[in-house]
Amino acid sequence: MAVATQVLAELGEFEFDERLVGGAAIDAHGTPLTDEVLDACRDADAVLLAAVGGPKWDSTDPGAPRPEQGLLGLRQGLGLFANLRPVRPSPALLDASPLKRDRIEGTDLLVVRELTGGIYFGDSGLDGDTAHDTCVYSEPEVERIADVAFRLARRKVTSVDKANVLETSRLWRKVVTRVGEQNGGTPLEHLLVDNAAMQLVSRPAEFDVILTENLFGDILSDEAAMLTGSLGMLPSASLGDGSGPGLFEPVHGSAPDIAGTGTANPLAMFGSVAMMLRHGL
Ligand code: IPM
Ligand code: MG
Repeated sequence: MAVATQVLAELGEFEFDERLVGGAAIDAHGTPLTDEVLDACRDADAVLLAAVGGPKWDSTDPGAPRPEQGLLGLRQGLGLFANLRPVRPSPALLDASPLKRDRIEGTDLLVVRELTGGIYFGDSGLDGDTAHDTCVYSEPEVERIADVAFRLARRKVTSVDKANVLETSRLWRKVVTRVGEQNGGTPLEHLLVDNAAMQLVSRPAEFDVILTENLFGDILSDEAAMLTGSLGMLPSASLGDGSGPGLFEPVHGSAPDIAGTGTANPLAMFGSVAMMLRHGL
């Protein structure tokens, strides 16, 4: 974040309002996101976010506040249902990927991840020795994220689900197909998530827009990051219906093992600044 603000200062005049979220907010206020901070974000033109967690706050105690709740609270509180994660390996780093150069060359894809629904926000609970997390999707929720995917597609949309097992995925597939028909020009393909995970490393250059639900998008975007050689390369934009600010953040976490050493790769943060300028300001 420190270098991101330096870059912005070079580019123009921006008014910064710095607020605490995640672990730092837990230390200061006992909660990862205060109402005051959420209100301040609502009042901003855009929210630029640095990573939120660390081992200090890792706990399996269900009652303990977790840094990630701050991020999830922002996404939900700001209605940021559309998460855009572009993956484009830099030519200079083609040999830094664990995958062979000839596999990743030409890769230029965008993960469009649904961000405020699914298993992340369904009913969950722990009762004695049994726990549950519920995955819920409604047609309007699928429709609006599918619209975003088709709007951004250049060649095709690959919709990823688990329709051979999950009811939510069958609903997902039905709605995405309908939205696809309304967007006649753009080809649509459906992939099951296990197959998509495989194809993402075997033929990544074939993808254009990958449209998927919250949890699958979380997992596939970390996988896709390795096409670029490092999780430190991926920026993201989280957008709502346009009535409020978007949120811009690197896909990576807080890298606690190198915190404070001055060696963190700032490129995902710079990319997030670029996305903020393009989509947010
Ligand atoms: C991400 C992160 C978050 C997520 C965590 C920190 C809650 O992994 O943005 O991909 O799961 O969405
Ligand atoms: Mg993630």
